[in-house]
Amino acid sequence: MPEPPRFLAACRREPVDRPPVWLMRQAGRYLPEYRAVREKVSFLELCKTPDLACEVTCQPIRRFGLDAAILFSDILIPVEAMGMRLEFHEEHGPLLPDPLRTAGQVDALRVPDPEATMPFVTEAVRRIRRALPETPLIGFAGAPLTLAAYMVEGGGSRHFVELKRLLWSDAAAARTLMGKLTTTVIAYLKAQVAAGAQAVQLFDTWAGILAPADFEEHVLPYVQRIVTALRPTGVPVIYFVNGAGPLLGHMRQTGADVLGLDWRVDLRVARATLGPGVAVQGNLDPVVLFAPPEEVARRVGELLIKGGGRGHIVNLGHGILPDTPIRGVEAMLAAVRQGP
Ligand code: CP3
Repeated sequence: MPEPPRFLAACRREPVDRPPVWLMRQAGRYLPEYRAVREKVSFLELCKTPDLACEVTCQPIRRFGLDAAILFSDILIPVEAMGMRLEFHEEHGPLLPDPLRTAGQVDALRVPDPEATMPFVTEAVRRIRRALPETPLIGFAGAPLTLAAYMVEGGGSRHFVELKRLLWSDAAAARTLMGKLTTTVIAYLKAQVAAGAQAVQLFDTWAGILAPADFEEHVLPYVQRIVTALRPTGVPVIYFVNGAGPLLGHMRQTGADVLGLDWRVDLRVARATLGPGVAVQGNLDPVVLFAPPEEVARRVGELLIKGGGRGHIVNLGHGILPDTPIRGVEAMLAAVRQGP
């Protein structure tokens, strides 16, 4: 039997020749070939045009030979399909001009059929699988709380006052919103898997803003529902939280196969806390890639030792930054290939 690709083996905590490596936001503005495509089309057009989404997904694989590809899209695409207006601005990222503030607005949200409303996503998945038959493809979605954060705030936020106000002042509306998002995410991820995605990552970028008790109420049950719903597909589920350090035990309770961690948690400590039954992904500070190549190599060497080899997928602790030097990425990958 042929060996499974090392990324999929590591997700299942099977032995590998070396830990696999990919980078969150690996297709993006730090690549000149990505910027060349973006000169001609807007970000949303890029997400909605399967041959272009396929092309930019392949760019970092062709340049660096990473161990996994990730579908090029955005976590907010299904939010538009649910009925909200969505814009992206060069300077301040996503903007939802009509933020959710009332129970009536929550009731009006649709639970979209992914194939009917986002056919460009599944078509991109099929094209990527044909273009990259040797490289495992990761599909993804935003987790319900993180999607709710953008929908209620109307964009990025510093203190998430509107989100927390909704969670804490209208429990029924909050439950309706989180329930609709959960059902949407399940159907969306299942559609990506049916089209060929071989693993899925749930991005819960903002779940780390909650106290543990709020995480238990507003995050855990919904993420558990998503993980359970995906079980029958057999594909590994990766759950990423930014600011996960104080929530490791809670993340473990989601049942995800792989936990994605940011750099504020020591990977050796995290592995000791989580135990051997779950794989981990991460967690180099993305700003390390701006350091001299020798310093990048030294830190990657330490990370490989702390990760302990088996069941460790090397990645950054958050998305790669737009002005990251290519030589920093090259130094990181060379150090992973060389080993500790
Ligand atoms: O990892 C990948 O390469 C796959 C593609 C991907 C993008 N966004 C492309 C993108 C993925 C997985 C995402 C997830 C995403 N999107 C998250 C979760 C991960 C995280 O970073 O916390 C979030 C919070 C978003 C929402 C979002 N989209 C923001 C806040 C921004 C603006 C910030 C920025 O970098 O401009 C985006 C835009 C975005 N999504 C870009 C890319 C490549 C830049 C768009 C451009 O080309 O101008």
